[in-house]
Amino acid sequence: MNLTSDEQDMLTGKHGKAAQKAMEILTTLGEIFNAQRMVDVYSVQIAGVSYANLGEAGLEFLNEMAEDGTVKVLTTLNPAGMDRENWQVLGIDADFAENQIRVINAFAKMGVITTCSCTPYLIGNIPHFGQHIAWAESSAVCYANSVLGARTNREGGPSALASALTGKTPEYGYHLAENRHGQVIVKVNAQIKGTDDFSVLGKAIGDHLITLGKKIPWIAGIPSATVEELKSFSASIATYGGAALFHMDGVTPEFDRYPKPVGNPIDINPEDLEKTRRELIDEGLEVDFVSIGCPHASIHEIAKLASLLKGKKVTKEFWITTARPTKRIADEAGYSKIIEDAGAKFAADTCCVVAPIKGRFKGMMIDSAKACYYGRAKNKFKVKIGTIEECVKVATE
Ligand code: F3S
Repeated sequence: MNLTSDEQDMLTGKHGKAAQKAMEILTTLGEIFNAQRMVDVYSVQIAGVSYANLGEAGLEFLNEMAEDGTVKVLTTLNPAGMDRENWQVLGIDADFAENQIRVINAFAKMGVITTCSCTPYLIGNIPHFGQHIAWAESSAVCYANSVLGARTNREGGPSALASALTGKTPEYGYHLAENRHGQVIVKVNAQIKGTDDFSVLGKAIGDHLITLGKKIPWIAGIPSATVEELKSFSASIATYGGAALFHMDGVTPEFDRYPKPVGNPIDINPEDLEKTRRELIDEGLEVDFVSIGCPHASIHEIAKLASLLKGKKVTKEFWITTARPTKRIADEAGYSKIIEDAGAKFAADTCCVVAPIKGRFKGMMIDSAKACYYGRAKNKFKVKIGTIEECVKVATE
């Protein structure tokens, strides 16, 4: 790779041990993927923050990097294993909490902003069109590439941290225009509305992508979509189709920037969506846990929950997972009080997938296909997808 003198200096250790290790990681990655050079990144988002994922070995690596490492660009974290303020109320074990705090402290020592969220783009880590970034969370990567038109590969924990400590990433994959072309046309012949519908659509298209071995769909037939719908869709298509980028005719910024794909289109009809929806509802499900906020809830979604929960009482464990800055806005707006008076709980900084709640509940209801996937696979819950209104209805009956 062609390195600038500054990058060479990092590699030879002139900027300290952590920057050297970071540049070693990035040059190795660049060589594997035939990158010609490094590009500057505007921001970084680091995943793999839960102590449950990192363990002592991961924490040791972080502490080593934190000895002399400092982030060079705006860097935020993915959800951690617990709400840092409210973990006892959510039933998190004290030992786990202590270890999770050690992880957060190691990141803080390096200058990382410790807002733990998978929607960094809702809380100030928001790149502009065409900017290079190094993000790790799959749903956020897909949203950033597709909806914002920023450019990122799906980074792993160590490579994202390496980019944070150097401000660089190797230029390959989605950083290059030639790798951002749509590969297959998808025609949606159905009306899609709401986060759950978009989530179901993400799974339906994602399943096709896996069968066809394609990664970038060019989607027609969606006249408009909200931020919440697009974040839900991004999470789902990333989970089920491994997609890090999609184009949506008239909706996303690069939809007409590259030649349209050729070949047979995929048709998505109402019956396909019905079938996909049924696949997200387990037989014999008994809901004892309702969660909203995968990806992390926006203030708009929290306002809606407050209006739906006003004057009611939940009869089941009900979590609203969100970024802490969004929770603070909800506090100021009075939404949190309405929601908490109804008996629902905020789980800021974390989510129903990364929190250590395996086996704690029997059946989870949620508006997210991604959460259904991991609720089953990781936490061994039965699951059911539904609209936000249906989730609140079940939670309060
Ligand atoms: Fe975010 Fe957790 Fe869903 S990280 S995308 S809320 S599984």
